[in-house]
Amino acid sequence: MLEHDVIIVGGGLAGCRAAVEIARKNPKLNVAVVAKTHPIRSHSVAAQGGMAASLRNVDEADSWEAHAFDTVKGSDYLADQDAVEILTREAPDVVIDLEHMGVLFSRLPDGRIAQRAFGGHSHNRTCYAADKTGHAILHELVNNLRRFGVQIYEEWYVMRLILEEGQAKGLVMFRIEDGQIEVVRAKAVMFATGGYGRVYNTTSNDYASCGDGLAMTALAGLPLEDMEFVQFHPTGLYPVGVLISEAVRGEGAYLINSEGDRFMANYAPSRMELAPRDITSRAIAYEIRAGRGVHQDGTAGGSFVYLDLRHMGKEKIMSRVPFCWEEAHRLVGVDAVTQPMPVRPTIHYCMGGIPVNTDGQVRSGSQGFVEGFFAAGETSCVSVHGANRLGSNSLLECVVYGKRTGAAIAQYVQNRKLPTIDEQRYIKEAKEQIQALLDQPGQYRINQVRQAFQDCMTEYCGVFRTEELMQEGLRQLQDFQGQYSQIYLDDKGSCWNTELVEALELRSLMVVGQMILASANNRRESRGAHFREDYSQRDDTNFLRHTIAYYSAAGIDIQYLPVSITMFQPQERKY
Ligand code: FUM
Repeated sequence: MLEHDVIIVGGGLAGCRAAVEIARKNPKLNVAVVAKTHPIRSHSVAAQGGMAASLRNVDEADSWEAHAFDTVKGSDYLADQDAVEILTREAPDVVIDLEHMGVLFSRLPDGRIAQRAFGGHSHNRTCYAADKTGHAILHELVNNLRRFGVQIYEEWYVMRLILEEGQAKGLVMFRIEDGQIEVVRAKAVMFATGGYGRVYNTTSNDYASCGDGLAMTALAGLPLEDMEFVQFHPTGLYPVGVLISEAVRGEGAYLINSEGDRFMANYAPSRMELAPRDITSRAIAYEIRAGRGVHQDGTAGGSFVYLDLRHMGKEKIMSRVPFCWEEAHRLVGVDAVTQPMPVRPTIHYCMGGIPVNTDGQVRSGSQGFVEGFFAAGETSCVSVHGANRLGSNSLLECVVYGKRTGAAIAQYVQNRKLPTIDEQRYIKEAKEQIQALLDQPGQYRINQVRQAFQDCMTEYCGVFRTEELMQEGLRQLQDFQGQYSQIYLDDKGSCWNTELVEALELRSLMVVGQMILASANNRRESRGAHFREDYSQRDDTNFLRHTIAYYSAAGIDIQYLPVSITMFQPQERKY
């Protein structure tokens, strides 16, 4: 059996930042990171536009309080304000700390870190490295892991969280290269496994974003929080769905409909293209519904709108958002210096996740915590984003709460012993699970079931939701569960069996999808990214509270948690 003081699942920003902090606090601890890709291929590397912090380098009027207010208002008042206060107060220090680690932020002429405008932020506070901010930060963090001697298990797939008597004791995982199954025991287990964009058919997320950590947590009988809040990023490149950063609008680009109008004037006149994402995504969807979208041949009535950069000029485009220019050029043949880009909303981020406190300790329910289990980053719900995240607050969350969780873990494991685990039992069960999948005499291909499932989630739990739609979605999910038990794998081997990984990922996607739909169906109001046409108003009387959902094969049980309101009383949200 493998043994570590701390095992962290996920090699993205939150996991790496936590590992660095544990090593800084106590270099003697034996820390490992396990990831199904190489850490620098984690989805964090794709983060583009930046990381918010009230450094006041370009806007002296900014403050952590203003950042906190924008975040809470952006969240449609569902964010826990104690957690938001920590996020925004600590933001400037964590940015400077990253700079000291060697992160190459873009600069002002006087050498200080540059900051740009972002949606829903009332001041220019987003620090950036051109439009490759995640790449710049993650590379430095991974370098630091190596410097601190953190062990990295790369390209291992974690199949199961070992949870016994309310204590997280370790993991079961297999090496994708050769199928070797291992049990790991640890004094603390941390999940930093990112999001679940692949639940939907069009997403800015990479292929690995399947919600594995969320599904393992739910399957272990623990709750997930606020899963109904799914963020659409307004500007996914059409038709592929990859991210065209909000930074492009932050630097001055316009959204234009088929009539050539900057339609955001009708939806958020004071913020225009820099309204929060829920409002901007809905605005684009309304324009498309009203026949003011664009077809490939430029005529009206199609399914995208234009993101127009032409007035920004070549020099600004190439220096501030070169990667976005390159993506549009490479993937859809558009030269954004002379042509508008085709865009439409794409699934980007999950506001919900594994419920944690501000030290990253996982909640076991409305009261109490799971011994030895921590989470941070997109997979967790602390909750700083509430019903709608502001752009550039997610890198910040990963770093602030990755760091805090790392510090809490270093403290937690100090006087703890390694837990006892029946290794043979877990190895046997994992082998049986894998063999059952390999032996299944099924009639469905993985891709066929996954595509139908993703189409279902997109159609029945997308930008606009109703009870009728979601009930139909839930009904169809039952069919997909049946089909899952009849999927057929061609590859029966143990060497690089990516088909097996895809089968396990599909299980994760389907568990997460069911949690999203059930939580959304239960929330009979509209708030942030959760918009119901049958309950189109926010309902603070009944729903100013967090959803806590428990998974079981028989169905999803929904309970609620109060929201922490410490600074800002809920108001009508206008932009
Ligand atoms: O648009 C973007 O660059 C994305 C940033 C974010 O999601 O925070």
